[in-house]
Amino acid sequence: MLSIEPTESQQMIADTARQFAARVLAPRAAELDVSGGFPADSLAQAAELGLLGINVPGDLGGVEAGAVAYALAVIELAKVCASTTVAITVSNMVAEVITKFGTEAQREEHVPKLCGGDYVVGGFALSEAGAGSDPASMRTKAVKTDRGWVLSGSKLWITSGTDAGLFVVWAKTSDAPGSRSISAFLVKGDAPGVVRGKPEHKMGQHGSTTTPLDFNDVELGDDALLGEVGHGFKIAMMALDGGRIGIASLATGCGLAATDFAADYARERRQFGKPIASFQAIQWMLADSATELDAARLLVLRAAWLKEQGKLFTREASMAKLFASERAHTACDRAIQVLGGYGYTREYPVERYLRDVRVTRIFEGTSEIQRIVISRDLLRRQSAAH
Ligand code: CAA
Repeated sequence: MLSIEPTESQQMIADTARQFAARVLAPRAAELDVSGGFPADSLAQAAELGLLGINVPGDLGGVEAGAVAYALAVIELAKVCASTTVAITVSNMVAEVITKFGTEAQREEHVPKLCGGDYVVGGFALSEAGAGSDPASMRTKAVKTDRGWVLSGSKLWITSGTDAGLFVVWAKTSDAPGSRSISAFLVKGDAPGVVRGKPEHKMGQHGSTTTPLDFNDVELGDDALLGEVGHGFKIAMMALDGGRIGIASLATGCGLAATDFAADYARERRQFGKPIASFQAIQWMLADSATELDAARLLVLRAAWLKEQGKLFTREASMAKLFASERAHTACDRAIQVLGGYGYTREYPVERYLRDVRVTRIFEGTSEIQRIVISRDLLRRQSAAH
């Protein structure tokens, strides 16, 4: 049964995330946005609380709380600091993908270190300069040798690229065109030949580093291969199905925080002799945002629930990400409108929420890619029914 009320244990994880965000992230979020950099200390504290392995089995160092608890926790974290939250979501995704596809030895070696913060966080190295929405066209390659593999090529847009201690890296392992020539590898950040590039100057999420990564003939053992040769593309797609629930949750959290802030402001701010909250123009903006974000939250929870039940959730995760990222962006924009000129300044956090939420319509698959995933699934299911 799908319940829209969290269970006691799911609520406990959400409360833990909310308290952590209030205690650790809130005092730093505005400053981190200005200074940039990587919030290593906050992430170490997140690891101590289990927030880097929320949906990972207990015997691998996770808290085994499930995908719904994960979504609820990410919403709480993102209400306060989207930058730190994205590092947390990508690290959880990496821990989950190794749990699902790794050998017993790989799981035991890497997953506890990801959950416990020994690797700082995990990184997901799929995109390249010429292969973003179309990762199957990647050029990074891994060549088989007697001793294992030699990895060469360049990745781009890698979240936490400055600090992640472990990356899942996708590379072509044959010259065949298309997705079946791609395999996945586990590569430590300090492996000889791994070169971390300079962080990009981004519109938002300034406390999350996004870098190129170069692999200059990196020698890997046979034990670095994740899953079977040629199955890497499917592994990436399955990881991204789950990752998209994380990004949808992150967007929802940003939208909710901006809307709450705007509602509080509207109650205080007086114009024409009364609080602006008494004007219908303001009420309607708040009502639309509240309604759309509630719908986003329900889509997120449905996708997470399907994942937790072991059911197919590809289409539903894409729907959640598409809707949540677009509606949360609008909600943040409306929040600025409610604050007027003040909303456009750095004195208030709503302009940060807008800048931070913008990328949720891009990373882990653009809105246009989500529409491709949704419509392909819809048309396939309809043609199967005829
Ligand atoms: N689950 C399992 N298998 C899947 C799958 C899924 N969700 N999606 C596709 N596959 C399988 C297909 O069944 C197919 O298998 P066969 O070869 O056996 O037939 C194979 O994968 C290839 O599938 P497609 O033909 O559909 O592949 P495509 O090249 O047409 O691409 C796409 C499909 C959905 C557009 C995909 O390329 C895509 O998702 N693109 C977006 C990439 C993306 O999201 N990048 C994000 C980067 S990571 C990031 O942003 C993280 C961060 O740091 C924040």
